[in-house]
Amino acid sequence: MEAYNVVTEVLTIHPNTPEPQIIAQAAGIIRAGGLVAFPTETVYGLGANAFDAAAIERIYRAKQRPSYDPVIVHITHVATLQTLALDLPDIAYALAEAFWPGALTLVLQRAPNVPSNVATGLLTVAVRMPAHPVARALIDAAGVPIAAPSANRFTRPSATQAAHVLEDLNGHVDLVLDGGQTRIGIESTVLDLTQAVPTVLRPGGIVMDELRQVIPQVQIMNRLIADPTTPTQSPGMAIKHYSPRAELILFDGERDTVLNAMNALAVKLTHDQKRVGILTTDEDAGAFTHSGARILSLGQEDNLDHVAHVLFGAMRALDNQNVDKILVRAYAKDGLGAAIWDRLLRAAEGKVRRMMA
Ligand code: TXA
Ligand code: MG
Repeated sequence: MEAYNVVTEVLTIHPNTPEPQIIAQAAGIIRAGGLVAFPTETVYGLGANAFDAAAIERIYRAKQRPSYDPVIVHITHVATLQTLALDLPDIAYALAEAFWPGALTLVLQRAPNVPSNVATGLLTVAVRMPAHPVARALIDAAGVPIAAPSANRFTRPSATQAAHVLEDLNGHVDLVLDGGQTRIGIESTVLDLTQAVPTVLRPGGIVMDELRQVIPQVQIMNRLIADPTTPTQSPGMAIKHYSPRAELILFDGERDTVLNAMNALAVKLTHDQKRVGILTTDEDAGAFTHSGARILSLGQEDNLDHVAHVLFGAMRALDNQNVDKILVRAYAKDGLGAAIWDRLLRAAEGKVRRMMA
């Protein structure tokens, strides 16, 4: 696949009241078949006209994304669903009513006019209505739905700041709209409505308990059983995903046992001349004072909103300090914790060191 090489322009934009002339410029690029990176409330997206197959192809080239990983189409009006999807179930409207605009993506039967490369040839299409004013203004001004994966290079942590987009995609995207740091910090929940039972393919910003209030029967798929190399109902489930460059070592189990094991490993690795980073919490940080590791706190352990908000940026920050290994402890796995656990597991390529008390 040839690269999509361009000169990348960066424009600062007001996150709440985006300047109309900047939006107009960005919308012109989308309509002309170019790529614009823009903030959403979850992470930055790498956007193109969803009805332009050649522009979609540029997304895959820019991200160096394999052609089995489909992208999400972003809209601002529920009525647009009818141009994108067929056989819309009633629950799609109920979910849209409850959670849109917001961090929920619905997988639906794809309408024939949606280019098949949006969905890597699948008969379905993923659709989300973002809440971020910049995303919404851009979609409205472009006058077309905007297809956008997360604006990171394939397998890198998603971008929550414009600087992260540039780290990965400078020279491969026409314009980056810098609207500051994204609010949620991890991606949307992907919910498949084409299966007999609505199934969460990716936990994200809208949590299971919220979904259950609208669709009590919702189930979550065990992502580790997915074969990452085949285009199945659960594409884009590659185990290696959201990875920092350093190897991430994920610990799970009883807190004190885990902290001791992490500290011992950090001491050993440091002694072996390795550069170690520890992603930790305010409560745990003291356990590593003499470990020799670079310590980065994600905030208080019970504030999962904040952990999610800073997680990807923290992985990138440790990478930029050229650490060889990143050690991290698993936190609560319910609520937003399910999405955080999922991203850590991906970053650790599915490997967990389980500690008994
Ligand atoms: O929060 C988000 O969802 C962000 C912002 C930019 O909207 N986007 C994002 O896109 O995370 P991406 O491409 O990194 O992740 C999209 C996820 C992937 O796991 C992909 O496999 C899944 O959605 N997906 C997309 N189309 C699908 C389809 N037709 N069937 C099943 N899964 C699909
Ligand atoms: Mg992504």
